[in-house]
Amino acid sequence: MLREADVLSTLMRRKPEHSLVQDLYCDPGVFHVEMDHIWYRDWIFAAPACEIPKPGNYIVHEIGTYSVVIVRGTDGIIRAFHNSCRHRGSVLCKAKKGSSPKLVCPYHQWTYELDGRLIWARDMGPEFDPSKHGLKQVQCQNLSGLVYICLADDAPAVGEFAAETARYLAKHDLENSKVAFESTIVEKGNWKLVWENNRECYHCAGNHPSLCRTFPEDPRVIGNDGSGEMAGMQAGHTERCEAVGALSAYKIAADGEWRFVRTPLLDTAESYTLDGKVAVTKPNSSLPFKDAGALLKFKYPGTWNHFLSDHIILFRVTPISPLETEVCTKWLVHKDAVEGQDYDLKRLTEVWLATNDEDREVVENNQRGIQTPAYQPGPYSPTHEGGNIQFTDWYASTMIRRITGGASKIAAE
Ligand code: FES
Ligand SMILES: [Fe+2]
Repeated sequence: MLREADVLSTLMRRKPEHSLVQDLYCDPGVFHVEMDHIWYRDWIFAAPACEIPKPGNYIVHEIGTYSVVIVRGTDGIIRAFHNSCRHRGSVLCKAKKGSSPKLVCPYHQWTYELDGRLIWARDMGPEFDPSKHGLKQVQCQNLSGLVYICLADDAPAVGEFAAETARYLAKHDLENSKVAFESTIVEKGNWKLVWENNRECYHCAGNHPSLCRTFPEDPRVIGNDGSGEMAGMQAGHTERCEAVGALSAYKIAADGEWRFVRTPLLDTAESYTLDGKVAVTKPNSSLPFKDAGALLKFKYPGTWNHFLSDHIILFRVTPISPLETEVCTKWLVHKDAVEGQDYDLKRLTEVWLATNDEDREVVENNQRGIQTPAYQPGPYSPTHEGGNIQFTDWYASTMIRRITGGASKIAAE
């Protein structure tokens, strides 16, 4: 099991533009260091705000050893709290999601307001001060309808990402959306392999027959060629979408942590369906044409999203152990869209349910092969795997910077 200093020297010796060494994908010590320096320090996507539309609606999100309750207050504001009672520490919310007018501890019924204040605790004596026993808050931001949490006290600055999110998502109505379907799978693979597989389409033609009907694997179109230069197809698409106010041009953070680009789908495809036509006839965007492609967004380390003209797909990545990663996918449609009338659930979900399963299999095969003693890092394709180079560069530089306590992200911003 590697210690922090070993992790640092392993990262420093990394061969650029190659997959990582075995330990970085398998070792429990590396996993702990990553949790401390990435997952417990960065803004992590938790859920769409529309999933908790009313006061008292909550979801619980677990990251590593933390459990966080994300709840909408009576004032409409979404807040996050550590899911641990201030009496003797019991979890407050046992379910993954629910609704409650107050947060009541199941153990001795200490009762908290939705803003975290303790309002009832039986027989605690005259000296007891409820105001000193409110729930511990977790930093929480609702960015254009997407809720992010940060477990660190000194959360990284989020201003530029928030502003770009608002600009790129302006035509997509997350506020008036609902979750039509969600799926959670556990992939027996390291979280970085899940990301690496997401960041390239080198594998698409050989593994994703249904996705390849509509999704362009050309890396210049999907922004994966490393240079960020788009093919002519992309340029025309950007121009057409931006003419109607839908920001589309490739935009990546200076430190590589997030990116937006609206790509065209293949030919005249409108959505990720088997026939390429929209899946939802009551769209949750105000785009004036159906073939607006997919606005692709990623925000390391926890989420990538696809915003289409008719619906939205949100992916959330959560590491469970060095060799296991949860991938939760949510399909968002207009809140007034009626199943069976405005959309067919099978048609809406079948392409990405199949694609997720195909991705799970290739990630698991990748992990198993990396665990054999014969594994050695191999070169990324400069044509197709620019996204992997970008991801591993971001990962290694972030880890090195944080382990060494060098210029922190906050200072850098
Ligand atoms: S642990 Fe919550 S009321 Fe006792
Ligand atoms: Fe894939």
